[in-house]
Amino acid sequence: MIMVAKAPQKKEENLIERVFGADGLVAQFHENYEYRDGQIKMAEAIARSFDEKKHLVVEAPTGTGKTLAYLVPAIAQSIRTNKRIVISTGTKNLQEQLMEKDIPFLQKIMPKKFSAAYMKGRSNYACLYRIHKGEDQPILDGMDEIDHFREVREWVRETNTGDRAELTNLPENLSFWNRINAKSETCIGQKCPDFEPCFITRMRAGAENADIVIVNHHLFFADLNVRGNQFGKVIPDYGAVIFDEAHLIEDIAADYFGFQVSNFRIDELVRDAGELPISDAIATTAIMKTSARIVGISEQFWIRFTQARGQEGRYPLSPDAFAHRGSDGEDQPTALGEACHALDNAMERLETEVDVYSEKIPEAESVVRRIRQTRFDLDFIVKQADRNFVYWLERRGRGVFLQASPVDVSTLLNEKLFDKVETCILTSATLSANGSFNFIRDRLGLTAGKTNTLAAQSSFDYEKQAIIYLPKVMPDPRAPEFPQMAAAEIVSLLQVTKGHAFVLCTSNQSMTALYELVSSRVDYPCFLQGTMSKTGLLEQFRGTPNAVLFATSSFWQGVDVRGDQLSCVIIDKLPFAVPTDPIVAARSRFIDENGGKSFFDYSVPQAVISLKQGVGRLIRSTTDRGVIAILDPRLRTKSYGRDFLNSLPRMRITTELDDVRSIFPVDGDVAV
Ligand SMILES: Nc1ncnc2c1ncn2[C@@H]1O[C@H](COP(=O)(O)OP(=O)(O)OP(=O)(O)O)[C@@H](O)[C@H]1O
Ligand code: SF4
Ligand SMILES: [Mg+2]
Repeated sequence: MIMVAKAPQKKEENLIERVFGADGLVAQFHENYEYRDGQIKMAEAIARSFDEKKHLVVEAPTGTGKTLAYLVPAIAQSIRTNKRIVISTGTKNLQEQLMEKDIPFLQKIMPKKFSAAYMKGRSNYACLYRIHKGEDQPILDGMDEIDHFREVREWVRETNTGDRAELTNLPENLSFWNRINAKSETCIGQKCPDFEPCFITRMRAGAENADIVIVNHHLFFADLNVRGNQFGKVIPDYGAVIFDEAHLIEDIAADYFGFQVSNFRIDELVRDAGELPISDAIATTAIMKTSARIVGISEQFWIRFTQARGQEGRYPLSPDAFAHRGSDGEDQPTALGEACHALDNAMERLETEVDVYSEKIPEAESVVRRIRQTRFDLDFIVKQADRNFVYWLERRGRGVFLQASPVDVSTLLNEKLFDKVETCILTSATLSANGSFNFIRDRLGLTAGKTNTLAAQSSFDYEKQAIIYLPKVMPDPRAPEFPQMAAAEIVSLLQVTKGHAFVLCTSNQSMTALYELVSSRVDYPCFLQGTMSKTGLLEQFRGTPNAVLFATSSFWQGVDVRGDQLSCVIIDKLPFAVPTDPIVAARSRFIDENGGKSFFDYSVPQAVISLKQGVGRLIRSTTDRGVIAILDPRLRTKSYGRDFLNSLPRMRITTELDDVRSIFPVDGDVAV
């Protein structure tokens, strides 16, 4: 029973023992119960941090059962203090797993009742108002879309959630979804005639009544960034937050604390302005004319970026891209700066023309709000005045995205989150580097005095279950002969393990090169990332005997293949972030300018954490066995190689293929 206790810490420990102990509730109800010391230590540390009103950074290896380890003390704390607790996950998949599996399990076994709700980003939900409007206005192209729209319309009458994940029969990339979803930019809030039945209103009400609210990092940081602002805030107030997969939060926070303007954003704005229900013909004509002007200038503006940057990718914006200092000391706009100025003027004009209707037409008010925000964001990016931001550009498909991202999120996170919320728990299988949490704490702005830490031990016996193979001779990864030599090593390894392997690469280029070189030289079925969806590829891999999968970053983490099917993980190079990436370069510069050594303080620990994620794919249960091969010779030749090896679970290291054979039980063979 959870009660307000005089000695709360002791009480929580009792509860944890009652839930996780050898005769506890999990043992009684979980079909595969195992006593896991790391899980119990983690749950206790969380309960203690709640009591001490401190933050906690806790690393516990894959498969520890972290989910239950944080849910149990969180539920107890929420009931005890009557304050809501938010759980934020890195991915929607984990969010769904919590809601469908772990929460119902605990609702069954926990001694006191509790309620939980889950929230996704607003764009996952249908907007009733926009759907009703879509019935009168043409937003569709072609017969397929008309059919799909009809299905969506029928579905919104029945669904309780309005979550598009329920539309399993429709294609993932429904082109009109963006025009009928409930994103905050187009929401007209309290003025909406559908405000009451609105799915967002209902989702929010559900969360208001829940003890535990489950979100993902994207929603959490989008919300954190607009808290205190009347539009957009969706998560109800909370007493504590738990971040699972917390190694992802620096990058996600940087995305939401930044600014972005794209050609798509301006196109949508102009289109929505054109669809406003304004009956005055003269005003409509004026708006159309200004909109056409914006489209013309905007095209000229964006095309300059595509001409200058032929390929897709991320590039830094030059400091004098929009203006340069003339000989008289005054700033002179460049041609791009002139185009930007013209674009801003035209948008200002549209803002004035539409604002006349703001009082009468709620959508007009939201269009004006969006124009103002877009102009503000564009101005912020173009001025490049705030030295704490890095200014950059991304080309992706038909999109050009101008961006400003904070170089260092630690101050912002500290102010907005760690200083405001009493307890934040950050957990993941990979948070420490070389035995220390300093890296993650510094990157995120957690102060040592207010932050507890725990590295829970693995329940796997890595020394028995796995071996690390480092080839004797390999050239530097930048050498032209590296792919050939790496391919030869991979072929030899695959002969030993009979496939059953992931080849995890640090770039698409390397992945394709190795796939080409290896797949023709082995008899095992080889799969290549990108040829089908991630889920599809994983299904194929699991279901195909002796398969080999060549993949890049998205397969380094969150992928779970148990048993013999995955007995070999081959890593081509140490996963250092691309140094020329504008954000990476800016972060490194920032550290160097502040007296640090970016290579050792940032590049190495970041790569260590990524490597640990990749290595973590191999051993997923106490009966798994296998080999991790790292083909990058820097692990042995460079002094920092030690930092990588020290950060991995203790395993035997060999340079001999014969030793690799010995890890497999049956005559040195992998079961097929
Ligand atoms: N004490 C336990 N005994 C047996 N199974 C458990 C126990 N605790 C949790 N599990 C189960 O172990 C599996 C892994 O749990 P969970 O997903 O929480 O792992 P994790 O530590 O988050 O790992 P990862 O880092 O890979 O996400 C789940 O199927 C869960 O139900
Ligand atoms: S309140 Fe906003 S999101 Fe909800 S139906 Fe109305 S416009 Fe759509
Ligand atoms: Mg997990």
